[in-house]
Amino acid sequence: MNRRQFIVSCAAAASAATMPGCALRPRCDRLFWYNASSGLHIPCDGLERPLRVWQVSDSHLNLRDSRDDEYKDFYARMGGEWNPGLTAREAFERILEKAKGERPDLLLVTGDLISFPTLKNVEFAVERLDACGVPWLYTAGNHDWHFEGDSGSDAEQRERWIEKRLLPLYKGEDPMAYAKTIGGVKFLMIDNSTYNVDERQLEFFRAETAKGGPCVLAMHIPFWHRGWGVFTCACPDWGADTDKYWQIERRQRWAERQDDTTFEFRRATDEAEGLVAVLAGHLHKLDVVSDGGLAHATAPLAAVGEVLKVTIG
Ligand SMILES: [Fe+2]
Repeated sequence: MNRRQFIVSCAAAASAATMPGCALRPRCDRLFWYNASSGLHIPCDGLERPLRVWQVSDSHLNLRDSRDDEYKDFYARMGGEWNPGLTAREAFERILEKAKGERPDLLLVTGDLISFPTLKNVEFAVERLDACGVPWLYTAGNHDWHFEGDSGSDAEQRERWIEKRLLPLYKGEDPMAYAKTIGGVKFLMIDNSTYNVDERQLEFFRAETAKGGPCVLAMHIPFWHRGWGVFTCACPDWGADTDKYWQIERRQRWAERQDDTTFEFRRATDEAEGLVAVLAGHLHKLDVVSDGGLAHATAPLAAVGEVLKVTIG
């Protein structure tokens, strides 16, 4: 096993003695741990009180109405349910109902909130999140802006549908990269939903983390780790040859490899002092990995009612 990279899925504790990167972290006695009932715990000094975050990823809402009839063919495949006993809408409402009762400090929505950018999907999501009464932050996933069979590259479709439909989800923030501090923790919301980040996003990340921590990086697609497959960011095996779904999803085939900037972004997270966690979704399964003492997590599938609870502090 690589000493800097080992899986602590679901119960194992991290030992500072094996963490060469711990000197960069806010506290080194015990870097983080995962407990099946209470979630991911990230010790962090200097906060007034522990911050309770619910990461809600991949709700895959599938709502539409007659206003989007012209796109019926574009959303037909993604219009079904993930669980026959619980619709995506019911799962989302169940999560928000629990949040109303348990009052976490933040709902961190890390993409694929919706399965396609219909008006009904966006309006419903924003209305219900606002009505929940818990602060929420959003960054897009690859499905939020994707109408299957639509024209143009992924980057072009993302720009088009963010502009046309998704803007209410950002509340005036920059969809590609923004920062919000909640309870003393800065959340860096970076859109990597095309499997790449650009220079501007990389510089934003460097500048924000240079100001000091604690910071959490939130994005849809996780960084590559052993066992996490090719649907990852800064992945050495990602590329046209490993893109199995481009015809099914009716989108542009992946490029030969991800951009150099994306690999630089990965390295930048290793060097970012004060970064305490990287929280992503996309894989539809819970996993937590320690990489040099930094917690990298993927949230479970919110479309079936699950969230990743994260306590910082
Ligand atoms: Fe998803």
